[in-house]
Amino acid sequence: MSDKKISMGIPRIKVGNQTFYYQYEPSLLDSLEAQEIQAPYNCRSGYCGCCKVRLLEGEVTYTDEGMVDLKEDEILTCICVPETHIEIEIPDD
Ligand code: FES
Repeated sequence: MSDKKISMGIPRIKVGNQTFYYQYEPSLLDSLEAQEIQAPYNCRSGYCGCCKVRLLEGEVTYTDEGMVDLKEDEILTCICVPETHIEIEIPDD
């Protein structure tokens, strides 16, 4: 872990007008659900792409290898955790 990340503390997650601190859930998806944020999902293991969201700011790290083609600004919430403070956008549909 870099000095920058150590000094940053607990990652902060911003979704729309909600901001909260990452609670060390197994995945970003679990952390969103713990905050009662409606986040799409299906397989919860990186295969279907249903949990795809836009990463507007920050970095995530993957805990598993996904099987979905992603654009540069897209992430799979079911198999990643925040590495820094992040801002994401959940698609409407
Ligand atoms: S829920 Fe299927 S890839 Fe994340």
